[in-house]
Amino acid sequence: MNRQERRAWLEGFGEPPVTGSAIETAEQELNLGWRGDRPVRLIREDALGEGYAIRVSPEAVTLRGGESGLLYGAWELLKKQALGESVTDIDCQPRYALRMLNCWDNMDGSVERGYAGRSLWFEGSRFSYDPDRIRFLGRLLASCGVNVLCVNNVNVHEPAQGLIDEWLPEVSAFAALLRPFGVRLMLSVDFSQPLRRDLETADPLDERVRAWWRERADRVWEAVPDLAGFLVKADSENRPGPFAYGRDHAEGANMLAEAVAPHGGVLVWRAFVYNCKQDWRDSGTDRPKSAWETYKPLDGHFADNVILQVKYGPFDFQVREPLSPLLLGMPDTRLALEMQLAQEYTGQQIDLFAMPGLFREMLDAAGPERIMAWAAVSNLGRDENWFGHPFAGLNLYAFGRYGWDAGADPERVTAEWAALTYPRLPQNQREILCGLLNRSRSVYERYTATLGLCWMITPNTHYGPSPDGYEYQAWGTYHRASRDAVGIDRTSRGNGYTLQYPPELTRLYDDLATCPDELLLFFHRLPYDYVMRDGRTLIQRIYDDHFDGCAEAERMAETIASLSLPEKDLAEAVERARLQAQNAREWRDVVNSFFYRFSGAEDAHGRPLYI
Ligand code: GCU
Repeated sequence: MNRQERRAWLEGFGEPPVTGSAIETAEQELNLGWRGDRPVRLIREDALGEGYAIRVSPEAVTLRGGESGLLYGAWELLKKQALGESVTDIDCQPRYALRMLNCWDNMDGSVERGYAGRSLWFEGSRFSYDPDRIRFLGRLLASCGVNVLCVNNVNVHEPAQGLIDEWLPEVSAFAALLRPFGVRLMLSVDFSQPLRRDLETADPLDERVRAWWRERADRVWEAVPDLAGFLVKADSENRPGPFAYGRDHAEGANMLAEAVAPHGGVLVWRAFVYNCKQDWRDSGTDRPKSAWETYKPLDGHFADNVILQVKYGPFDFQVREPLSPLLLGMPDTRLALEMQLAQEYTGQQIDLFAMPGLFREMLDAAGPERIMAWAAVSNLGRDENWFGHPFAGLNLYAFGRYGWDAGADPERVTAEWAALTYPRLPQNQREILCGLLNRSRSVYERYTATLGLCWMITPNTHYGPSPDGYEYQAWGTYHRASRDAVGIDRTSRGNGYTLQYPPELTRLYDDLATCPDELLLFFHRLPYDYVMRDGRTLIQRIYDDHFDGCAEAERMAETIASLSLPEKDLAEAVERARLQAQNAREWRDVVNSFFYRFSGAEDAHGRPLYI
């Protein structure tokens, strides 16, 4: 929400609700700008927890819920009012008890993979923020249904080590600002912190280390009694972890879990482990296989308060990946599904990339009941409009929405966001905007990563094309394009990756007749003259997708310019759409030329391919 929208929101609804002082135990009427035709009666009913029940009678609307349930119910009523929907009886509970935003904010104020400006709460190696803005952030998160905010980057470097030490008073003050909005903090911790600060080891089985963490957790929870837990990135991309001591990840996670358990805390352990120093010549190692190889043998070994947080795909937040097989193969482990609202590989909040469809796809593939927590890397920053791109707020809204309703219809979620954000946009224009958003992933996919061909992106920055950028590097991300063929054979006849899936999926992905086109080159290595189901050759399909995706990005830029959006949003969106079109042309020409040089195949329609 930018200032203008915020003003509109406040004019329409009054100051949005908070828990605590605004909502007491006694029955009372809601006076928060509700303009319905009958009063809203609030009844505190703690048994409903974060959930709520709405009952409509001729005299009144009654809203029951626990402290934050009342808060979410109030937002629901305001949302219905804003959408012009009539209020009916509702019984609602969140789908996931933990709806966690992971902020990759560093204490120097930078945000790793942040595309919306600097950190909202860190600057100059300390907490530094505008309390009003943080309160507004609380409202924003509550209105989206998000209830946990992990405030620091998973890559924990000094001085962030001090967040569980000398900075605790500041952490406590920050937590107090967000508490009224039902938002609890979480902290990322460094597995080796005892070693870095006090002891000569961080071995999870060493009694001194265990005592160190227990004592540390006691201090942390004394300062922030409702802290949700710790988040850990261990043995991943050069971060320290239990492997250094010959211990496995259950031993590492359980040691920390034991320290936080007496306080009701959870220990969120990220499953992002792979060899980031691979020799590219070594085709016997395949990065997508690694998480399963590390964690599958540990299923059932984790303590009850450990949550294993798994990225949706086996690589790393790519435009298109199959669901990580780990999410289907750990029945005796509590799992969180991790998404990335920060558009690291998906256009960096310059190119449009709406995520509701991706969320639904991954939740459906995982089976919503198989996971117990819902997490995402944040896309927030200090920019006036919070998200860099004025439309990128959709992804936060949708993330929260799917945390409550894993089966929500993506187009409906997008339409809600558009109506809530741009209430004054004429209906036909809103439909145009939603159409752009609904197609945005497919557009971006066609010019950057068609047929599951990921990682042709510029190394490090992860914006713009560089087909061979990662090809001869250590990160395990190869497409292995040659003169004759492209892709990696990950089937059971190839490197066996598909065997990590349940048998029906192994069969689906193994068979060229059933493997979805979008994932064809993720699972198969194919010659350029391979004939696709639609009759086109593989190379022609690659050319076509790049030409079509780019042409659509160019048209999108024109359409956006024609929308009657608030002035600032329009200017931002138009400028970003211009940059997107430029990016798309670059991708089209670089990738098409790359394959033209290998294959020598002309475009069937005679469009320019460069040598
Ligand atoms: C990606 C990203 C890193 C991040 C990592 C993670 O590799 O580029 O910046 O630290 O994911 O999820 O931990």
